[in-house]
Amino acid sequence: MGDVGEKLKGYTIIKEGEAEILMHSSNSVFFNKAQVNNRDMSIAVLRTFIDKRKEEHAAMLNKKGKSEQKVLECTLGTEAEATTFQSQKTNGDCEMHLNQSIDEADETVKEPTMASSWKGPRELKAPKVLEALAASGLRALRYAREVDGIGHVIAVDNDKASVEACRRNIQFNGSVACSKVEAHLADARVHMLTHPKEFDVVDLDPYGSPSVFLDSAVQSVADGGILMCTATDMAVLCGGNGEVCYSKYGSYPVKGKYCHEMALRILLASIESHANRYKRYIVPILSVHMDFYIRVFVRIYTSASEIKNTPLKLSYVYQCVGCDSFHLQSLGRIVSKNNSVKSAPGFGPVVPQECTHCGKKFNMGGPIWSAPIHDQEWVLSMLANVKAMKEKYPAYDKITSVLTTISEELHDVPLFVSLHNLCATLKCTSPSAVMFRSAVINAGYRISGSHVNPLGLKSDAPMDVIWDIMRCWVKSHPIRAQPPDHSGTVILSKEPKLQANFARVVASLSKAQAKKVKRFLPNPERHWGPKVRAGRQITSKHSSLLGPQILTGSSNNEVENGAASEQDVNDEHIAEQDVNDEHIAKRQKTHDLSTSDP
Ligand SMILES: C[S@@+](CC[C@H](N)C(=O)[O-])C[C@H]1O[C@@H](n2cnc3c(N)ncnc32)[C@H](O)[C@@H]1O
Ligand SMILES: [Zn+2]
Repeated sequence: MGDVGEKLKGYTIIKEGEAEILMHSSNSVFFNKAQVNNRDMSIAVLRTFIDKRKEEHAAMLNKKGKSEQKVLECTLGTEAEATTFQSQKTNGDCEMHLNQSIDEADETVKEPTMASSWKGPRELKAPKVLEALAASGLRALRYAREVDGIGHVIAVDNDKASVEACRRNIQFNGSVACSKVEAHLADARVHMLTHPKEFDVVDLDPYGSPSVFLDSAVQSVADGGILMCTATDMAVLCGGNGEVCYSKYGSYPVKGKYCHEMALRILLASIESHANRYKRYIVPILSVHMDFYIRVFVRIYTSASEIKNTPLKLSYVYQCVGCDSFHLQSLGRIVSKNNSVKSAPGFGPVVPQECTHCGKKFNMGGPIWSAPIHDQEWVLSMLANVKAMKEKYPAYDKITSVLTTISEELHDVPLFVSLHNLCATLKCTSPSAVMFRSAVINAGYRISGSHVNPLGLKSDAPMDVIWDIMRCWVKSHPIRAQPPDHSGTVILSKEPKLQANFARVVASLSKAQAKKVKRFLPNPERHWGPKVRAGRQITSKHSSLLGPQILTGSSNNEVENGAASEQDVNDEHIAEQDVNDEHIAKRQKTHDLSTSDP
């Protein structure tokens, strides 16, 4: 006992879910308790993946069985018919069937949903997971201990102290952990490149940007497997540093209220671009903005023909510098000719040189992923799974609220408008969200909320309609005169073509709102945000932004997000916290300040 006590001296035991880790007071290995949301969401995805994979495997076996049956029937039939009738036609028919069956069987082999571990005769192996940037191993341990049906979990880190801590934590977590989790000291990129298509799940959870890991990660995921990827460099992705964003992700961000959704779409476009280099493509299943970071979950498949459709899934964004109206310009379009369908460069430009609403110029951002960023079936399955296992998720409230809001988003509508922003442009009072939503629905369009911003409204209504609704609103809620060159003045100088009807409609409230289900939650405690990286000097800046406790117990750290600028931290803290309307409005104002031009 004394021995154990001696060994544990200087360590604190941290428990999250089923896993326990030993953290040394020197804080030489990274741990952030706020990332429990991230880890819980990933566990929810993993559990759903295991279920879906079983369903897909059963469907594949079924299909294979049927095609084998067909081949058998046809072969037997052919033999019988050949002896009895010697019918050329029947043989012909059968030949066709045989060919079909061979094609189908061949297709089954290439079936995109097949992961590498399915290659065995008929058995489905437990999924193999790579946690490429593992730190203490907490995440790997939680996957191994909490997810039924999971296979081996390989935890890699290039930091010696982290790998030692990880090995210690594996031991500390007992026999299941010891049999399932392995720790390796390696550069994640080298490990992934030397294990092509080996992992059914690859998890990237870096400090800051994942950009340097993407190329190797897309190569190490098995066909039909999942890449889970976090990015915490929100200031870069949200337009604080457009050129840096371009150099890391190959896309220009534009500053807007939708910047966190744009960040998700930039990351997806970047992963797709890396995947395409290896004849692979992504299918997003869930893309979330939580706390101070974004995290995407995508499946990866191989198909030389499908990658030709990538330009159809990408768009540039034109955003007016005066009124923030935005328009999407698809990179590709479909051309049908003589029964064949091809993709061709998109027609453009979709906007004139000057904004038709206010006369100002456009900034151009992108390319972004403009196809859906979630798979609704997955989202609903995840939500149901999480609700059924409530006690298994320490961050249950947070992840159910995020998944609920996502389940109600319009998945085919990229980006969103903010009612407060529209009103700020016109300098008018704001209609309630319900009135505005009703006016959009009464005009014949769809509208939903957005999980990334409590004030965001996604709609398929064109900007003309949105501005007409606001013009009608201002007619009954007049404003003080504004300078003539002001964007709002120019917008209001035009008569609306549409007569807005603000009469409340039932569908103006989402199901969750109607049932008073919480869609946005406050942070559980102060300074719930990015943590510091092992090995850097803490300054007073860190303590003022991250809380005074940062100075106690850790003497040498750096802020978790890569760029680690003050703006990053502000942005991350402000990113999503709210709850009631008052706080939302206040936060929105602060957010505006943190993401506006210096
Ligand atoms: C943010 S921490 C990971 C946190 C962990 N996933 C969790 O949930 O607690 C990032 C880790 O990546 C490691 N790392 C950074 N660059 C790496 C590389 N090229 N190869 C392997 N590990 C790396 C760092 O040492 C650090 O431990
Ligand atoms: Zn404009």
